[in-house]
Amino acid sequence: MLEILNSAAVITGGGGGIGLALARYWVKNGGKVLLADVGEPILEEARVRLKEWGENVRTIVCDVRREGDCSRMAEYAIEQFGGINLVAPFAGVIKDGLMVSIDKATGRVEKKMSLDQFRSVVDINLTGVFLTVRECVEGMINNGCRGLVCLISSTGALGTAGQLNYSSSKAAMSVFPKVLTAEFFRRGLAERIRCVAVAPGYVGTEMVRKIPPEKLDAILEQVPIGRLIDPDEVVSLIGELYRNEALAGDVFHVHGGLRLGSRG
Ligand SMILES: NC(=O)c1ccc[n+]([C@@H]2O[C@H](COP(=O)([O-])OP(=O)(O)OC[C@H]3O[C@@H](n4cnc5c(N)ncnc54)[C@H](O)[C@@H]3O)[C@@H](O)[C@H]2O)c1
Repeated sequence: MLEILNSAAVITGGGGGIGLALARYWVKNGGKVLLADVGEPILEEARVRLKEWGENVRTIVCDVRREGDCSRMAEYAIEQFGGINLVAPFAGVIKDGLMVSIDKATGRVEKKMSLDQFRSVVDINLTGVFLTVRECVEGMINNGCRGLVCLISSTGALGTAGQLNYSSSKAAMSVFPKVLTAEFFRRGLAERIRCVAVAPGYVGTEMVRKIPPEKLDAILEQVPIGRLIDPDEVVSLIGELYRNEALAGDVFHVHGGLRLGSRG
C-alpha cells in the first residue's frame, strides 16, 4: 500500500472542479501538490482556497496543448518536490453538438460540427493528456519514483449523442491504462509505476453546470441515485486507487448506477 503522506501529485486542470477537489484531498492527507491550469487568476483563486491546508501547494501556468509547457511543468514538480508520485491529467473541456444537424422542415443538413469544434476538444482532452503523461512519466522514471498515473475517462466514453468529440477523447482515456501498463510491464516498470483511469458519470462541477437546466433534469432522471456525483466521491476513489497497488491497467467507474452509453 502507498501512503499519500509526503507524496507529490501533479494535477492539470487543477484550478477547478475535480482537479481542485483532488488537490484539497491530497494536501489534507499530507501530500504535496503542483497545480497546473491555463491562467494565473484561476490558480491564484485555487491557492487561496487551499491555503488553510498548509504550504505544500505549488502552481504553474500550463496550457496542456503546448509541449514546452508540459515539459516545464514536470521539471518544476521534480525541482520543487524531488519526484512525482501521482499524475492526474484532468484538464478537459466539452463543446457539444451533433455531427450533423438536420432541418426538420426540409430534411437537409443545416449545420455541421466544425473541424475546430472537434479538434479543440481532442487537442486538450487527448493530446494534452498524452503530453502531460509523457513528460511526467519521464520524470518519474529518471528520478526513481513510485506511484500512479490516474487518467480521467467518462461514462461518455461508451458514446453519448452530441459528444462525438468528447466521447472519442474519453474512449481514448479508457485504452491508455492498458497500453501504458503493457509498456511499463515490458520494461520492468509496472511494479513501480501503475496506470488506471476513473470514469465518472455526471459530476457537480462547472463543466456540468453549463448544461441547460431542462437537459440536466432529463439526465438526472436516468441516474439511479437521483443526483450528481460529488467531486469528493470521485476523489475518494482516486485515493483508494493510489493506495492499493494491486489496482492497475483498468478503468474504474463512479456513476451512481447510470446506465452506460447513450439511449439515442
Ligand atoms: N464533470 C463531469 O461530469 C465529468 C464527468 C466525467 C469526466 N470528467 C472529466 O474530469 C476532468 C475535469 O472536469 P471538471 O468537471 O472538473 O471540469 P472543470 O471545467 O470544472 O475543470 C476543468 C479545468 O481544466 C482547465 N483547462 C481547460 N483547458 C485547459 C488547457 N488547455 N490546459 C490546462 N488546463 C485547462 C480549466 O481551466 C478548468 O480549470 C475533465 O477531463 C472532464 O472531462 C468530468
